Amino acid sequence: MRTRVGIVGGGPAGLLLSHLLHLRGIESVVLEARGREDLEAEIRAGVLEHGTTELLIEAGVGDRMRSEGAVHHGVNLQFDGRRERIDLEELTGKTITLYGQHEVVKDLVRTRLDAGGEILFEAKGIELRDLESEEPKVRFLKDGEEDELRCDFVVGTDGFHGVSRKALPDGVRTEYERRYPFGWFGILVEGPPSTEELIYALHEQGFALVSTRSPEIQRLYFQCDPGDEASNWSDDRIWAEMHARLDTDDGWTVNEGNIIHKSVVQMRSFVCEPMRHGRLFLAGDAAHIVPPTGAKGMNLAVTDVRVLSKGLAEFFTSGDTELLDRYSETCLRRVWKASRFSWWMTSMLHRFDGDNAFQYRMQVAELDYVTGSRAASTSLAENYVGLPMDPGFEPSAKGRAAQGAS
Ligand code: PHB
Repeated sequence: MRTRVGIVGGGPAGLLLSHLLHLRGIESVVLEARGREDLEAEIRAGVLEHGTTELLIEAGVGDRMRSEGAVHHGVNLQFDGRRERIDLEELTGKTITLYGQHEVVKDLVRTRLDAGGEILFEAKGIELRDLESEEPKVRFLKDGEEDELRCDFVVGTDGFHGVSRKALPDGVRTEYERRYPFGWFGILVEGPPSTEELIYALHEQGFALVSTRSPEIQRLYFQCDPGDEASNWSDDRIWAEMHARLDTDDGWTVNEGNIIHKSVVQMRSFVCEPMRHGRLFLAGDAAHIVPPTGAKGMNLAVTDVRVLSKGLAEFFTSGDTELLDRYSETCLRRVWKASRFSWWMTSMLHRFDGDNAFQYRMQVAELDYVTGSRAASTSLAENYVGLPMDPGFEPSAKGRAAQGAS
């Protein structure tokens, strides 16, 4: 088999890249280890930045998101018995959209298949070869048979545990990591939302988050022990914890309902540098992980493949490698800023083992400041709705100053 771009991993990054390349007339093949059903059922986060929704609409895959997703104009921070709203739209002119990642995946799979795009499901045992040559290859097993895909480029979008990142030689790759000493216990609940907009809460017993998936499904989380297991928590124990951390003195209470899904999410920050080696490019979770507190994971993946699709299009039309050569640097600047934001939100909103009462008061003071100062609220808001998608394509501050001076 021969294609221009071999894409290893059929999550949002790989599927969107394949679609963006198709729009520019570039052929690709997506290899996905899971079957279609498993892929489309995976429950992940659900907050789309302003730029992500714009890109999905521009690319013609935003119709269902527009009709079924919910546009949110603000978010709430709750601490010290108070709930304060950050008006995202007033502060930035932008909004966010709540729409589950697996819904984005479903839309992309359908769009690719309808356009005759090739997605090989249940492609196992992936091995990457000849990455430094002009014809890199992906070996894989399909229905027990060995096969090989020869490509001009290989893109690794196979997530944190995938094989692609490990194909960057040890001497080339630097990994930066911070693990957090807690996880998130997440539940999906049948029943009406408890609130119109998200609530991020710091409580003495730990963090909690109220989110939604649809008018009928709530998505709730609370900070838990990282080694905890969903089976340790009865529904009654979950609700007791939710009420303790979220209910307020004015009588507001989190709506209970039938819990249809329970899981524990691990929390880590991780960045791999560079995001390219030879003819292999990494995108999304294969290259970087953020804790979910800033809701940045899928948005970063979308930005990566947007930058990469432009670089590949430039190469295939003119042979020019300038954008591809800048891919890693362009993406990493934004990745590090989103990592900082996610780390900061995580630090401000969780209880850390060993923290004393002073540290808790510092967190409360920071939340009081962030919600009380227009400058600080704007900083949170502009990060939350999403920093510009490709700062590398825009003039730097120095470049802008030079332009202004001339
Ligand atoms: C979610 O709805 O799953 C969600 C929302 C906000 C976050 C993380 C997850 O920060």
